[in-house]
Amino acid sequence: MRKAIARLLLYPCVFVLSSIVIAGWPSCAASAQFAQLAATPPMGWNSWNHFAEKVTDADVRAAADAMVASGMRDAGYVYVNVDDTWEGERDAQGNIHSNSKFPDMKALADYVHSKGLKFGIYSSPGPKTCAGFEGSYGHEEQDAQTYADWGVDFLKYDLCGLRTIMDLYDPAQNPRKASAIMRDAYAKMHRALVKTGRPIVYSICQYGVDSVWEWGEDVGGNLWRTTDDISDSYRSMALIGFSQAGLERYTKPGHWNDPDMLEVGNGGMNADQYRTQMSLWAMLAAPLLAGNDLSKMDDSTRSILMNKEVIAVDQDRLGAQGYRLGPPQVWARNLADGAKAVAVFNFVTDDVPQPVTVRLKDLGFSEPVHARDLWTHKDVGLIRDSYTVTPPEGGVVMLRLWK
Ligand code: GLA
Repeated sequence: MRKAIARLLLYPCVFVLSSIVIAGWPSCAASAQFAQLAATPPMGWNSWNHFAEKVTDADVRAAADAMVASGMRDAGYVYVNVDDTWEGERDAQGNIHSNSKFPDMKALADYVHSKGLKFGIYSSPGPKTCAGFEGSYGHEEQDAQTYADWGVDFLKYDLCGLRTIMDLYDPAQNPRKASAIMRDAYAKMHRALVKTGRPIVYSICQYGVDSVWEWGEDVGGNLWRTTDDISDSYRSMALIGFSQAGLERYTKPGHWNDPDMLEVGNGGMNADQYRTQMSLWAMLAAPLLAGNDLSKMDDSTRSILMNKEVIAVDQDRLGAQGYRLGPPQVWARNLADGAKAVAVFNFVTDDVPQPVTVRLKDLGFSEPVHARDLWTHKDVGLIRDSYTVTPPEGGVVMLRLWK
C-alpha cells in the first residue's frame, strides 16, 4: 500500500489519467518519456575510474571523439558522463556554474550531442559532493533546470554530503529518520528532473545503503548502485560482481541494479580478468559504463568492450538479470527469445583452472540445445546432456544456448 501511494505521488500522471483531467497532459507526456528511459541498461563512459578529480573539458571531448572513432558508439555506448569535480560556485541567484576545468558546459553538451552521443553529469543531494565540491542541497529544482538547459541526459546523484544532514539525527539512534531524509532527497531530485520535461536518466549512487534495490524505483531511480566503489583490481571487481547474487528480482526494464562502472582497460587486471568483468556485468544486466581512457585503448581492451555478442546479452530486451546456478560460479540468464546465456567463471585467483560441467537439466532444458561460445565467436554444436568447460585462471567461458 505504501509503495502504491509513493508511486502515486511520484507519477501524478497515472492519477491524472485515471481522473481524466485533461489539464494534466503535459506532465503525463513527460512521465511517458521517463517510462521509456533506460529500457535496457545504460551504456556509455564515465570519467571517474580513470581521470578522477583531474578530468577536464578536453578529456571529455576526447572521450566522445574516441567513442565514435573506435566504433563504441555503434556498439551501443552512448552516454558520455562527467563525474565529480566539474562544479564551480553558485552566483547571487543561486545558479550553479562549472569551474575553470569546464569553461562552458552547454558547449560541451552540444559537442557531445553533435557526435550522436548523450551527455551526463554528476551531483549530490548534500551540500557537498564526495570530492568536496558544490552539491544540490536546497537547489534541486534550480540545478535540474540548469542541467536541462545545458542539455544533460543523465544525472548521477551521489549521497556523500547528505550524510552531514542525516547525521544531525544520529542515525544510530534514529535510523528511520536518517533513511527517510535520504529517500526524500532522492525523490525530490527525481521530481525536479521530471518537472524540467527533459528525459534525464536518473542514476542513484548511495552504495546500496538500506537495500536501495527495494525502494530505488519508488524514488524514480533508473539505476542504483548496489555496492561501495569499485577499484581496478580483480579482488574488488570479483567481490562486487559475485555478491550480486539474489538481487535479480529487483531489476526490470527502466530500473537496474548497478554494481559500479567498468574497469576494463585501466591496467590493473589481465585480459582474462577483464573478460570476467565484461561477462559478469552482462549476466547481471548491469549498466556498461566504460571507465578507461578511450583515447588510448589497445586492441585487447577494444575487443573486450566491443564484444557484440556479450553486449547483446547485457542489452537483452527481456531485462531479466542473471542468477547464480550454483557452485563454484556458474551463472545463467534468461533471454527474450527463449535462449539462455551461461557463464562459467574461475573465481579464485590462486585456483588452478578446473573443468566445470554444466547440465542442461539444471538450466531447465529438457532437450538438446545449440551452443555458441561468445568469446571465441564459434558455434560449439549440439549439447545433448551436459557440457564441460575449463575457464582460465580469473577468466570465464560464456555461452549462448538455444533450442
Ligand atoms: C563516490 C562515488 C564514485 C565517484 C566519487 C566522486 O565515491 O561512489 O563513483 O562518483 O564519489 O567523488
